[in-house]
Amino acid sequence: MSQDALKAHLEFFGELGIDGVRREPEWRGRAVSAHRRPEDQEIPVAPAVPTVQLFASPAETLAAIREDLGDCTRCKLHTLGRRQIVFGVGNPNADLMFVGEAPGADEDIQGEPFVGRAGQLLTKIIEAMGLTRDQVYIANLIKCRPPQNRNPEPDEAAECEPFLFRQIDSIRPKVIVALGKFAAQALLRTSDPITRLRGREFAYRDAILMPTYHPAYLLRTPSAKREVWEDMKRVKEILSGQRSE
Ligand code: URA
Repeated sequence: MSQDALKAHLEFFGELGIDGVRREPEWRGRAVSAHRRPEDQEIPVAPAVPTVQLFASPAETLAAIREDLGDCTRCKLHTLGRRQIVFGVGNPNADLMFVGEAPGADEDIQGEPFVGRAGQLLTKIIEAMGLTRDQVYIANLIKCRPPQNRNPEPDEAAECEPFLFRQIDSIRPKVIVALGKFAAQALLRTSDPITRLRGREFAYRDAILMPTYHPAYLLRTPSAKREVWEDMKRVKEILSGQRSE
């Protein structure tokens, strides 16, 4: 690694609030994260949505869902300049799934979620957790790029979200990280702001759902990286089977 790359790497870890590197994974043996308020101990249950027919393997099920989506014309986004559908990427058997909002310009060109600037930051966060993009699954609430990266509209979310729900049902991750307000609000069926949702854990089907800030927000507000890192440490705890109670 060059000196410049090493400097950037250390700066990034500094922004996450990591002040040193330990051999022992630091999330092992930790008690409740300090940021969790007492009322967060109670795990609210998200409303149920219908389950799907199971195919032989998650990979086959995902392929079938992608086929159902087809060259989708269910909402107006197909007339508004999308180049391609951005379905999802990663391990169909992942324990950890990230759900974003919608593809941006880079994702629309490459056909893969989170490959632009925000995506590169997400990749760094995943790697700081000791994982790779190949080990997790990454998808979006909306599969087509909204024009000028505007916010998804309710009719677009309504048409597209069943495909996300089916992806989740197929992968059956242990933890779902909802990146930003649109993913969190759609999955939790709430209009609560992300500032109220983040840092809390929700039971979602068989998974724990952890809302956190969107990487694009972190690009604008680097100081919020520390809070996201607290959330990711908790995600690691859950994945390693540790309980905070
Ligand atoms: N932002 C998202 O929410 N998803 C992407 O895939 C890229 C940027």
